[in-house]
Amino acid sequence: MSDPLGDSVLVTGALGQIGTDLVDALREKHGKSSVIASDIRDDQGHPSANEGPFVVLDVLDTDSITKICKDEGIGTVYHLAALLSATGEKNPDLCRKVNVGGTVSILEAAKQCSLRVYSPSSIAVFGPDSPKHAPQVTDLNPTTVYGETKVTGEALALEYRRNYGVDARGIRYPGLVSYKAPAGGGTTDYAVDIFHSAINDGHYDCFVRSDTRLPMLYMEDAIRATISLMDAPSDTLGKSRAGYNIDCLSFSAKELADSISKRVNNFTCDYVPDVRQEYADSWPDSIDGSIAKMEWGWSPEFGLEEMVDAMLDGLSGN
Ligand code: NAD
Ligand code: SER
Repeated sequence: MSDPLGDSVLVTGALGQIGTDLVDALREKHGKSSVIASDIRDDQGHPSANEGPFVVLDVLDTDSITKICKDEGIGTVYHLAALLSATGEKNPDLCRKVNVGGTVSILEAAKQCSLRVYSPSSIAVFGPDSPKHAPQVTDLNPTTVYGETKVTGEALALEYRRNYGVDARGIRYPGLVSYKAPAGGGTTDYAVDIFHSAINDGHYDCFVRSDTRLPMLYMEDAIRATISLMDAPSDTLGKSRAGYNIDCLSFSAKELADSISKRVNNFTCDYVPDVRQEYADSWPDSIDGSIAKMEWGWSPEFGLEEMVDAMLDGLSGN
C-alpha cells in the first residue's frame, strides 16, 4: 500500500458507548481538529459531536466514506459502527447488513485511500463448543448472528491485508463497563445498567442468572488497549491481528452485585433471566490473552473493586 493520505483520524459509530470515550481519548492524543467523529445519528448535544469535527455518515455509503477520507486527509479509521448482540438478534438482516456491509465499506475505502483500520471484534466470536477459558485459536462456531458477523469481520480484515496490504487490526472486546454513555444493546449491558439502577433506584432486576460469568473490562482499560494496539509496530503483530483475545476481568453477575452492595447501602438485585441469558451462556467465562501480551504487551489495570469504585465515582460526578 502507498502512504496514507494524512494524519487525521475518522471514527465511525462515534456516538455509541465506546465512541464516547474513544473520541475523547483520540482528541487528547492527536488534537481536537484532527479527529472527525461520525455516526448515522445526529446529536449535537453529544461531546463527540460538539467538542470537535462531526459528520453524519452511514457506514454503508462507501463513496461518502472515501470522499471524506480524501477531503480530510484521513490516515486511520476507528470503525465502531455496528449493531450489538441483543439488538442484532432482533434484527438479524440489519445486523448482517450493517456489521458485515459496514466493514466491507471501510476496508474498500482503506484499499483506495491507504488507510489503517481499527475494527473491533468480540467475545461473541466464540460459541458453546469453545473452552470456557477461551484460547486465542480455537474453532469459532457462534450461535448468534452478531457473533457470525464478528467472525466474518476478522476474516475480511485478514483478507484485505493479504490481498491489498490493508493494515487492519482488532480486539475481541469483552463486555465493556463505562459510565459516560449508555450501553448500546448488547448482552453484557447488565454490567452497566446495574450501576445506574443501584444509584437511582437502589434495586436492579438483572436479565441474566446470578451465576452468569463473562469476560469484562472497564472502559479506561479498553481505550488504552485499543490505542496500544494501534501504536504497535505492524511487524510485531501476527496472525491474531484482526481479533486479539486480551487479558481482562471475569466475574459473575452476583459477584458484581455483591461488590456494589458493599458500597451502596440497601442495594438489592433480583435475577430475572430473559432471552439474553441464552447468548451469555454461549460465550466463554474468561479468555486467554497471552498472545496479545506477548505481541504488544497488553495487561489491564482495573480489577473488579477498582472498576466498581470508578463507576460509582463517575456516575456520582466525583
Ligand atoms: P453502540 O451500539 O454503543 O454504538 C454503535 C454506534 O453505531 C451507534 O452510535 C449507532 O448510531 C452507530 N451506527 C449504527 N448503524 C450505523 C450505520 N449504518 N452507520 C454509521 N453508524 C451507525 O456500540 P459500542 O458498544 O460502542 O460498540 C462499538 C463496536 O465495538 C462494535 O463493533 C461492537 O460490536 C464492538 N464491541 C462492543 C462491546 C461492548 O461491550 N460495548 C463488546 C465487544 C465488541
Ligand atoms: N458487549 C457485546 C454484546 O453484549 C459483546 O460483543 O453484544
